[in-house]
Amino acid sequence: MTCNILVGGAWGDEGKGKCITYLCNKDNPNIIARAGVGPNAGHSVEFNGEKYGLRLTPSGFFNKDAKLLIGAGVLVDPEVFFHELEYLDKYDIKSRSYVDYRCSIIEDEHKERDKGSEHLFKKIGSTGTGCGPGNSDRVMRTAKMAKDISELNNYTTDVPLEINNALENGEDVFIEGSQGFGLSLYYGTYPFVTSKDTTASTFAADVGVGPTKIDDVIIVFKSYITRVGEGPFTTEMSQEKAEEMGIEEYGTVTGRRRRVGSFDMDLAKEACMINGATQIALTCVDRLYPYCERTQDYSTLSGETKKFIAEIEDATGVPVTIISTGPDLTDTIDLRDELL
Ligand code: GTP
Ligand code: IMP
Ligand code: MG
Repeated sequence: MTCNILVGGAWGDEGKGKCITYLCNKDNPNIIARAGVGPNAGHSVEFNGEKYGLRLTPSGFFNKDAKLLIGAGVLVDPEVFFHELEYLDKYDIKSRSYVDYRCSIIEDEHKERDKGSEHLFKKIGSTGTGCGPGNSDRVMRTAKMAKDISELNNYTTDVPLEINNALENGEDVFIEGSQGFGLSLYYGTYPFVTSKDTTASTFAADVGVGPTKIDDVIIVFKSYITRVGEGPFTTEMSQEKAEEMGIEEYGTVTGRRRRVGSFDMDLAKEACMINGATQIALTCVDRLYPYCERTQDYSTLSGETKKFIAEIEDATGVPVTIISTGPDLTDTIDLRDELL
């Protein structure tokens, strides 16, 4: 029985979708549970030449044996939920996707309030997906819950009960966080953050699992940093430099150009500490060092690449166990066996 949580180490878009796809394919968990804010996330999943952009469905969906749960702490936009059920129909997700009956619902009015808000949309640079106003209504205790929405009737369950029963029966559970450390309402670059905490303890609470049940916290860092929306960004570089280095990026949900910067060791140290990280997954190593694209073999990495990895381990005190060298799930170096 294992219960692991995956979290983002910077301002989101670290490549969590890719890492989750790899880990869920390799480790075959019985339950994959989505934590985090809500449909403001855009996870990218690629395998066998197919690409998917997801906002609510757990990124481990292609694993047809796993139950896909959305925790009570996650905001559910029924439009997005039903769209993804159709979009991923060939993976038979309709028969195994459930949301907790206590999830708050995002209604059209939340999206209008988000997009229409000078403060949220213009100053903070929100995704306009209604998450801020949705969480605000939950705090004000006026939000609707999933159990109040008749279309969701066949898709609600008690997520904590399902997960804790599974753990008791010796099954494996994988908890997917979304967003990233720098976007945490408490520990991020307030006020340029999302509408709740985005660290491992909150993700565990989102799906109703107590801290004593967690085995590993896997934190995902990209080899450089990106940020969408406004707010401080210490290691930011000019778009010209990012283009020169071939590391420019565009958002999955909003299509916005991402701001780009170099790896931030201080941010990584703090993110590892507050998340209680036990392992690091380092993504987009191939974009920084193109020679290593798609390699699955650590021994082919150059001295410079290995030095970069060793510096991260030394600074954070956390081992790098997954090295991602391309967007496809197979483009991965897995060093977890070396920990044993
Ligand atoms: P959020 O929930 O929005 O934080 O998303 P995310 O962490 O899943 O990341 P997102 O999919 O938004 O962005 C990461 C991008 O990098 C996607 O286009 C991925 O396909 C891509 N990607 C992930 N890992 C790698 C990698 O190792 N190499 C390359 N070249 N691309 C990668
Ligand atoms: P909101 O969560 O839509 O209110 O947006 C607040 C801030 O968080 C904005 O800067 C967004 O760009 C950022 N944000 C929210 N979710 C994500 C994500 O999944 N990836 C990257 N940035 C995000
Ligand atoms: Mg994203």
